[in-house]
Amino acid sequence: MYLRTKDVKSQDFVGKEVTIRGWVHRLRKQKENAFVLVRDDRGGVIQCVFPAEKAAGLTIESSLEVAGTVSQDSRAPEGGFEIKGKTLKTFNIAPPDYPIGEYQSDELLLDKRHLTLRTRKMIAIAKIRSSVLHYGRRWFVENGWMEVTAPTIVKGAVEGGSTLFKLKYFDEEAYLSQSAQLYLEAMIFSLGPVWSLTPSFRAERSRTVRHLAEFSHLEAEAPWVTLEDILSTEEQLVSYIIQNTITERAEELEFLKRDVSDLKKVQPPFERMPYDKAIDTLRSRGFQVVQEDGSRRDIQFGDDLSIDSERELTKDADKPIFVVGYPIAVKPFYVKEDPERQGVGLTADMLAPRGFGEITSGGLREDDMASIVNRIKKEGLNPDAYDWYLDLRKYGSVPHGGFGLGIERLIRWITNVEDIKDTVLFPRTMSRVTP
Ligand code: 4AD
Ligand code: MG
Repeated sequence: MYLRTKDVKSQDFVGKEVTIRGWVHRLRKQKENAFVLVRDDRGGVIQCVFPAEKAAGLTIESSLEVAGTVSQDSRAPEGGFEIKGKTLKTFNIAPPDYPIGEYQSDELLLDKRHLTLRTRKMIAIAKIRSSVLHYGRRWFVENGWMEVTAPTIVKGAVEGGSTLFKLKYFDEEAYLSQSAQLYLEAMIFSLGPVWSLTPSFRAERSRTVRHLAEFSHLEAEAPWVTLEDILSTEEQLVSYIIQNTITERAEELEFLKRDVSDLKKVQPPFERMPYDKAIDTLRSRGFQVVQEDGSRRDIQFGDDLSIDSERELTKDADKPIFVVGYPIAVKPFYVKEDPERQGVGLTADMLAPRGFGEITSGGLREDDMASIVNRIKKEGLNPDAYDWYLDLRKYGSVPHGGFGLGIERLIRWITNVEDIKDTVLFPRTMSRVTP
């Protein structure tokens, strides 16, 4: 039986013999002794001390099994415990050219991502990511939502044609899914409130720190809900994920130097800011938008919110803000129009604080057949491509709604890493499909 370093680092093991397995993370050879920092298969590390000749052939990332006695020594790095090595068995001696060291360009770290995963930073992020996914799932399960999955090879656009990945599907053309939403909408008629966690794909031409070509999409949909029901679900879900994750991953967040005092305040309710007020606020601060011809003008009602405007609105906030009631013209065809305000959608985006910006989009769906056909046409889409979706408006249509949460956007906010690429183990962007 081999143990993990985390278990070995305890008073109970002092003086006892243990066996651990792992890899050489750091190596310091002195005249008499070699100090081998061993990383186990969950990223934990412990110093193992060997007589120099025994460790002579070791190199960084060689894989090994160490048996020895645990001792406590305040000089030992990473918690003051070490193993006085007795036997050393190697599985593989790595050549001495291991490419990941202390100073590397971001590009090299991405090119060698399969190896970068062994760095402390990536291990910390991977663990935080695992908690985010775990608590996201758990919230839905505990609150009576049913888990479903939807296909990722599809025939129709959900979020507009410009970010579709085209694919040759036998003898016809298909796309990689941008969102499971339309399929979740089909499920609520027999399964009630449902949720899914599926990859979504966007052929984003922009290189930004918050866009990926493939991301993990946590989506939910339910019948007979109001916009307020949706917002309340979102704020509970996000608060639950954050509070549990910062408790479970306190060590990893500290390693990433993330001050979590703001995150501790993330509890419902989140502010609901009408879109009109968002525009007024931005105007009052002289906020401008760049037009197609490159000239600038003041932001006005009808404009979508850019990352810059989201940053401006949230820079002083310590909790997320919902911006509610965007114009339908800047939102997809399925957004329900407010029956009391023409041109305004019953829709909201959750903007993460301190400038992080949009992490969810959601709201009510247009449930009237004539209106949705109109909207599909207005968006320049072909209603024939949506025939199955339109059946949902034909047979027993009900008011319904839902939302989508970008897992990587949420992790970027929780970890405060600069680039969204670092929130996912193998990122996919416009310029990267390997490793
Ligand atoms: O705002 P979006 O495009 O909304 C939808 O797809 C809806 N159909 C979801 C629904 O109602 N079921 O995407 C939802 C969220 C965004 O708020 C953002 O967090 C994330 O998905 N997202 C991306 N994350 C990383 N890279 C991208 N390119 C993303 N595009 C959207
Ligand atoms: Mg959105």
